[in-house]
Amino acid sequence: MAPVAIKDNIFNVGVVDWNIRDFHGYSTYKGTTYNAYLVMDDKITLFDTVKKPFKNDLLQNIAKITDPQKIDYLVVNHVEMDHSGSIPEVIEAVKPQKVFCSPMGKKALEAHFGSHAWPLEVVENGREISLGRRTVRFLETRMLHWPDSMFSYIPQDRLLISSDAFGQHWATSETFDDEVALTELLRHAAKYYANILLPYSPLVRKLLAAVGEMKLDIDMIAPDHGLIWRSRPEAILKAYDDWSLQKAERKALIIYDTMWHSTEKMAHAVASGLADEGVSYKLLHLKRNHRSDILTEVLDSKALIFGSPTLNNGMLPTMADILCYLKGLKPTGKIGSAFGSYGWSGEAVNDMVRWMEEMKIEIVEPPVRVQYVPNQDVLAQCAELGRRVGRAVKERTA
Ligand code: FEO
Repeated sequence: MAPVAIKDNIFNVGVVDWNIRDFHGYSTYKGTTYNAYLVMDDKITLFDTVKKPFKNDLLQNIAKITDPQKIDYLVVNHVEMDHSGSIPEVIEAVKPQKVFCSPMGKKALEAHFGSHAWPLEVVENGREISLGRRTVRFLETRMLHWPDSMFSYIPQDRLLISSDAFGQHWATSETFDDEVALTELLRHAAKYYANILLPYSPLVRKLLAAVGEMKLDIDMIAPDHGLIWRSRPEAILKAYDDWSLQKAERKALIIYDTMWHSTEKMAHAVASGLADEGVSYKLLHLKRNHRSDILTEVLDSKALIFGSPTLNNGMLPTMADILCYLKGLKPTGKIGSAFGSYGWSGEAVNDMVRWMEEMKIEIVEPPVRVQYVPNQDVLAQCAELGRRVGRAVKERTA
C-alpha cells in the first residue's frame, strides 16, 4: 500500500494485512489494516506504528513522504502489538526527540519491551502539544479497550485519530468510508464492536458523552484499523451510541450443535414457533458459524436460545466455547431458553441454563429435553417454546 493523503500534509502510512484470518480468536476472513498517520508540520509526527512483520513496509511508506529520520515525535495511542510491535525498530530507525504515551501506556511499553533509554513523555488526559501550525490534544480512553488507550485530536484539521475505536477488520484497496458500501462497512464495524468493545459499553457511553460535552469539532475519524470515516463520521458515532446501549431488535438466535440430528430437529421446531410469531430469527449451527460472527448477530438480538445434546455428562465442546466467549463479552438485556437431546444422563440443558443465568440472560420459558429422538409431541413442545420466546421478544422490544 502506498501512503494516502487524508488531509493536507497528513498521510496514512500504514499497511494492509490481506492474509490474516485469525485475530486472537476473531475471524478476520477479510483481513485487516494497521493504519499509522504521519503529520507533516514543524514537528513531523508519526501516530502509531504497525505489527512487527510490517515494519519495513511502514518505513518504506514514510520514506515516500519524508526521510524517516526527520520524524520528531512518535505518538503511541495504544500498546497492543498490532500497533506497537515494531516500536523498538521504528525508534531505532527514526530516533525521535519524543515518544508520547498515556500514563498507562508508559507502564505497558515497559512491560512489553523492558527498560530503554527511549525519550518517553507521559501525557495526561487533555494535555495539548504544539506541532507548529497544529496542536494535538490527547484524550485518555482507558479500557477502550486497553488501560493505555488514548485518542489524539487535531482541531485545526477537525481530525480524531481514534486508535482501535470506530475501526473495522477489513482489508481494502480503498481508504475512505465513501469509497465502499455503507451497509458492509457498518457490518464490519459492528463485528468489531461486538467482539472487542461490547464489554466496555458503559465506558463507551461515558466517552461519547464526554466528547459531546467538549464539543469537539470532528469531520474525520481515523481509526487504526480499516476505513477512515471521511464523509459519514456521524454514521459511526450514531452506531456506537446504539451498540453501547445494546439496543435489541425483534430478533432471536437459535445457537446449536447436534450429534445425530435430534437437537437439530428441535432447533428447526423452535424456529417454526418464532416464525409463527413473526419474529426474525437465525439458525446458527456452531460448526458452520464462527464464534465472532455469532457475536455480531448477538449484538442486536433480543433472545438467545441454546441447543446442545449431552456428551460425556456435559454439553458439546462447541457450545462450551461460545458460552465462554459470550460470557466474557458481557451482553446485557437478553432473554432466552435452551433445549437438547440426550441418551442416558442429560446434563447439557441444565449446564447451558446455568451459564445463561450467570450471564443474567432471563430464562423466559422452561427448557425442553428429550431422550434420544424427538417425536411429534416433543417437536410441538419446541415449537411452543419458540412461540413463547417470540411473544416475549415482541413484548420487550415494543
Ligand atoms: Fe488493534 Fe487493541 O489493537
